Amino acid sequence: MSMPDAAQKPEAGVATPPVHVAIIMDGNGRWAAARGLPRREGHRRGVEALRNVVKAAGELGVRYLTIYSFSAENWSRPADEIEDLMGLLKRFVRNDLADLHKNDVRVRIIGERANLKPDIHALLSEAEELTKNNSGQTLVVAFNYGAQQEIAQAAKKLAEEVASGKLAAAEIDAAKLAAHLHTKDIPDPDLIIRTSGEQRLSNFLLWQAAYAEFVFVPTHWPDFDKAALQAAIDEFHKRERRFGGLDAKARA
Ligand code: IPE
Ligand code: IPE
Ligand code: MG
Repeated sequence: MSMPDAAQKPEAGVATPPVHVAIIMDGNGRWAAARGLPRREGHRRGVEALRNVVKAAGELGVRYLTIYSFSAENWSRPADEIEDLMGLLKRFVRNDLADLHKNDVRVRIIGERANLKPDIHALLSEAEELTKNNSGQTLVVAFNYGAQQEIAQAAKKLAEEVASGKLAAAEIDAAKLAAHLHTKDIPDPDLIIRTSGEQRLSNFLLWQAAYAEFVFVPTHWPDFDKAALQAAIDEFHKRERRFGGLDAKARA
């Protein structure tokens, strides 16, 4: 979506929660290894953390929560780990969808849907369909998601529009490209959190992160909880976002 107007920034000192928090849930494997447990146990505990953090984000007033659940590159992991992850996703949707719906959560999926196994495809569509008219918190699940792939498919759509005469090449701008991203009707993330100590994006929301604030925490994902989310939001509030302009003091 478009860049926020600097004039819409909240007054300094007024701590309105970030509208959109996106989380790279990393470190399940290391959490398990540190305890002598199989990686799959880390993923299982990761789902429990996710359940709590979705609830916590709602309580803290976060309108949009995006979670990076499986990257386009994660297919390169061993087959048994992929099987574990798919099993957990299916269980999460089956067990938690009714509750999410009851809590007025709208579920959205971003990522490449073509070529997914039919059962996974059906579950993801069911989650979106059931919750599409909910007006509470939006939970955006990035599944089989890769930002470069997302941008490339948007470029392809624009090229097709130009080829068919619907669009002039000279009319292409950032807004036209953004209108073809999976996130077209979702505001850009204000805050991106990555757990596990890694400080990289790993192909997550590259376009949408243009003016996001980043908080990297050493905690492995299964240990991330409401207090950790609150701490990341507190850190976010200490940042001065300028969107290319000047801060209030320099402007005066
Ligand atoms: C995050 O934990 C879950 C997914 C990427 C699906 P990891 O599985 O990446 O855990 P580490 O990074 O190996 O510890
Ligand atoms: C990013 O974590 C993907 C998800 C959290 C789903 P990875 O563990 O796959 O990232 P890299 O490989 O360390 O960059
Ligand atoms: Mg990892």
